[in-house]
Amino acid sequence: MTMAYLMDWLQLFFRWFHVIAGVAWIGASFYFIWLDNNLREPPQWKKDKGIKGDLWAVHGGGYYEVAKYQLGPEEQPETLHWFKWEAYTTWLTGMVLMVLIYYVGAQAYLVDASKFAFSTPHAILISVVSLAIGLAIYEGLLRTPLRRNGMWFGIVLFAILTLYAWVMTSLFSGRGAYMQVGALIGTIMAANVFLGIIPAQRKMVAAVQAGETPDPAPALMAKLRSTHNNYFTLPIIFIMLSNHYPMTYGHEWNWAVLAAICAISAYARHYFNLKHQGKVQPAILVIALVALAGLAFLMAPPSSTQTAVSEERAAELSAINVSQINSILEVHCAGCHAASPSSPMFSSAPAGLIFENTDDVMVMPDRVVTSMRSNYMPLGNMTGMSSDERTLVLDWIAAQR
Ligand code: HEC
Repeated sequence: MTMAYLMDWLQLFFRWFHVIAGVAWIGASFYFIWLDNNLREPPQWKKDKGIKGDLWAVHGGGYYEVAKYQLGPEEQPETLHWFKWEAYTTWLTGMVLMVLIYYVGAQAYLVDASKFAFSTPHAILISVVSLAIGLAIYEGLLRTPLRRNGMWFGIVLFAILTLYAWVMTSLFSGRGAYMQVGALIGTIMAANVFLGIIPAQRKMVAAVQAGETPDPAPALMAKLRSTHNNYFTLPIIFIMLSNHYPMTYGHEWNWAVLAAICAISAYARHYFNLKHQGKVQPAILVIALVALAGLAFLMAPPSSTQTAVSEERAAELSAINVSQINSILEVHCAGCHAASPSSPMFSSAPAGLIFENTDDVMVMPDRVVTSMRSNYMPLGNMTGMSSDERTLVLDWIAAQR
């Protein structure tokens, strides 16, 4: 059993676990927001017991009755369910994945030697420290008067995250930088639960138990934190999926692309938040969709992918023997992209793709061009492909069309 094979299983296990925990966390979060927004005024006899919101639902073959108390119930229930482990497990499994993929494989996935040829320990240090700084800035911001203005807080937070994305894309590979932004947002979200929401609930429960009126301040702060988490959900799911789409993180303006997608998806989330409050504004969804389409249009690669190279260059290329291209592919692609890769990093062809010769490449020229033009492939340029070799392969592909 090779190390690469073992790593594949570890990554599979933690990725699986991470997605399951994330589904549970975000699912619970969506459910409680839905619940809060669908509570109706209870009948008098329930009001007399201190219930302020009433809800009935049918699911899985039974009726459910939900009651939200103004403060606390007359008597503390024997079991009170807390929702925190979904958040913590999502964060913990996410960090394990980050270590397995981006730290163990730092030279392949995090470092881009054409930007900075960081050693693995340096890359990890920068990654960890930048996450800590990002979290500290967010926590600091929550303690400024800005917290009283939700919209401006949101705008400042967005600007800071965009700056962070820009810094990360200047230091690291596009894919690694996107995951750094995802890790920062995920860390902020988990910290919101750990440092804000759960402590506030503890105080509330303690006050109710002591028969006192709970102090509204921690609850207000918890509300702000959970609102941020709510708007983070769609952007962070995009980042989780983004590593399948080199057209995003591999783009020349990758940090701006990320900022735009986050802004558009957070805006789309706003539609659902308003809808739950009975304000249905479909225009928001339409605007978000149009903006996304507009972004796709703006980001489109120059159509030179399709257009042929200049006549002069074509003449030069026709003098090149296919075997010359094949030998470049052999050195720079086939070490990984082969049925049984010679690279110790992989136990099978990465992404199931085999590129041993020009025939393999011409099965999906667009994907190959996108991956090579963005410098994503060869991965981390671990094979040390020169820019002449890169241009030669790209031009050769273009000349075939
Ligand atoms: C060091 C190993 C390595 C080398 C060398 C390498 N690749 Fe890859 N390639 C990968 C891995 C790993 C993935 C899967 C990345 C992922 O998880 O998204 C991949 C994915 C791809 C994809 C799919 C990207 C997508 O999602 O559309 C293409 C296309 C590709 N490689 C082309 C090439 C070409 C062409 C070369 C040679 C110029 C090359 N690769 C060299 C490791 C390598």
